[in-house]
Amino acid sequence: MGKHWTAAWLRTKPLADLQHDGNASGLRRALGAWDLVGLGIGAIIGAGIFATVGTAAAGDAARPGAGPAIILSFVLTAVACGLAALCYAELAALVPIAGSAYTYAYATLGELAAWIIGWDLIIEYAVGNVAVAISWSGYFCEMLRGVGIIVPPWLSTDLRTALASKELVASAPHVLGVPIIVNLPAAGIVLALTWLLVRGVKESARVNAGMVITKLVVLVFFVVVGAAYVQPSNWKPFAPNGWHGIWAGAAIVFFAYIGFDAVSTAAEETRNPGRNLPIGILGSLAISTFVYILVAAVVTGMVPWFDLHTAEPLTVAMNRHHLGWAAGIVAVGSVAAHTAVLLVFQMGQPRIFYSMARDGLLPKTFSRIHPRFHTPHVTTIITGVVVAAFAAFANIEEMVDLTNIGTLFAFALVSAGVVVLRRTNPDARRPFRAPLVPWLPLAAMAACLLLAAGLPGRTWLRFGLWLVAGLVIFLLYGRRHSHLSPPTPPVES
Ligand code: ALA
Repeated sequence: MGKHWTAAWLRTKPLADLQHDGNASGLRRALGAWDLVGLGIGAIIGAGIFATVGTAAAGDAARPGAGPAIILSFVLTAVACGLAALCYAELAALVPIAGSAYTYAYATLGELAAWIIGWDLIIEYAVGNVAVAISWSGYFCEMLRGVGIIVPPWLSTDLRTALASKELVASAPHVLGVPIIVNLPAAGIVLALTWLLVRGVKESARVNAGMVITKLVVLVFFVVVGAAYVQPSNWKPFAPNGWHGIWAGAAIVFFAYIGFDAVSTAAEETRNPGRNLPIGILGSLAISTFVYILVAAVVTGMVPWFDLHTAEPLTVAMNRHHLGWAAGIVAVGSVAAHTAVLLVFQMGQPRIFYSMARDGLLPKTFSRIHPRFHTPHVTTIITGVVVAAFAAFANIEEMVDLTNIGTLFAFALVSAGVVVLRRTNPDARRPFRAPLVPWLPLAAMAACLLLAAGLPGRTWLRFGLWLVAGLVIFLLYGRRHSHLSPPTPPVES
């Protein structure tokens, strides 16, 4: 029995079956290379550069800040992501299926690993979106402040931060002696987008392109206007906490790069995926990296690094130089940028659930399509309600750390998948081949591990608990309902 179970956990889904699923899915292949680059930038540029860059540069009680050397943190993280992106590009071109890393694991490492990755991707997509929603709320309130509307702190602050402030707790209304503290805008935007997604408002390539252009224009605007206010003395000392600070900063700003992998969830809607997916993945990563390095250089040149511990570092930098009008423009652009990220991930999560339900690892209802709107409404609503509930109370730094560790784990497994599939299916047609295999994927895995090691112990603990919970669900449900489970014992040959 034990032997049978072990074999079942390691069973893989044949490459030919996966490729058939992709061809038979019936989704329309409408996206070209530039659409995918746009989709990637849509998913990538958001809370990471607009918010977490501040904490990463300034540090906090738990870890040292990188200081102006946050620029190096961005470079190092870009290298790690570049290695992983080459692996993603190879697998996405070979197995162009909506399930992304989940699907690649199913083809290479076996069903249990696939389930664990699918479970892990909830952290990347759903928990990541909790962080983005909280950051959205910060910039949204900043934008409202610009037009004279003040959202009270008890309606726009996370629980941990709020409870640390006696004045904030005192200012909150009380019910039966309990202070009411909730981040209403964060929950509200998630619910609003969920409603849109259920109604079938499609994130058409054109709508996405509008938001992508807005965010790029606003960041270029920030760089051009801010450059005039850079004081080179702010760049000295360049690395106040040495490599330790740069490393801790890299583990945080990794969040800013998450999203290039989400391009692969559009695989079933891509024309000529073998060519266009690698361009989309690598192109969006390259453009974002270039912009990030410029923004990091300018923001640390405008404000002393130790003053950047804020959720809205870019507007703080503008306001520091009395550029209220520019801060307003940045805040509006930032809200658009965050909204695009939220939309892509809030759409991506149900697609992954859909792939998992199609394989029997999740209940069928997860792949249900609304009869009128033609959207996966059940998973969209479940995702939306859960993300909104957490966004209402959670702390952004904790959510960013958790997202980063979960995503780094997925990147490491995808890199491992490249090595495994080269051995198990050496002759499969690979429209894109990552160079220097196995060394490049091994370097990608090492880089992911190194970045994850820069995250706090409590994050590792939470991640471990999450994986254990996933394992239990697999044993109780997925293992029994998997479509790879033969209804009758297999005939020995
Ligand atoms: N990379 C995305 C962001 O920074 C998740 O918002």
